[in-house]
Amino acid sequence: MYILCVYYSRTGNTEKLMKEISQELKCECVRLDDGVDRSGTGGWLKSGMQAMALEVPAVKEFRTVLPVSAYDLVIIGTPVWAGRCSAPVRSFLQKNGNKIRKAAYVITRDSDVRYEEVFEQMDLYLSAPHIAAVTIRPGSVGSTFWRDEFLTAVRGKEK
Ligand SMILES: Cc1cc2nc3c(=O)[nH]c(=O)nc-3n(C[C@H](O)[C@H](O)[C@H](O)COP(=O)(O)O)c2cc1C
Repeated sequence: MYILCVYYSRTGNTEKLMKEISQELKCECVRLDDGVDRSGTGGWLKSGMQAMALEVPAVKEFRTVLPVSAYDLVIIGTPVWAGRCSAPVRSFLQKNGNKIRKAAYVITRDSDVRYEEVFEQMDLYLSAPHIAAVTIRPGSVGSTFWRDEFLTAVRGKEK
């Protein structure tokens, strides 16, 4: 099973999780870059406003071993921004959603709200609904458990 991990991360939480997941699954892991400076309060505000407006900033070209359509599973990682997926991930989905055969989602957040509706929002860009998903508050009790549950679910789909 060919798996691609692809993610955006502003402050490293989603990146750390996606790197752990890709190491466990021994698969490629690609970071999206839209070249936008999202640092500091200005970057935070810009990001929140873009997410609320469902903007799709251009994402730089990224390299993968296979074309996106050739992967059996694409695992997409995003922080929650204002109750939505991050703008760079929305761009990725808009451009590649119809090429993805099967998708799974990893979202990170900093509140106790699970934001499972974000999964459905992301599904709107796909031709088939996601097959596995996890929502994690990094550093919270249980975050490792939920990550491992997600890995078990993904491995279950390999059989
Ligand atoms: C613009 C912006 C909006 C955010 N909105 C939410 C939110 O609605 N709910 C939430 O729980 N966390 C929210 N967060 C927090 C991030 O989702 C959380 O810290 C995430 O783990 C960051 O991931 P990263 O380090 O990979 O960028 C927001 C962060 C940013 C920058």
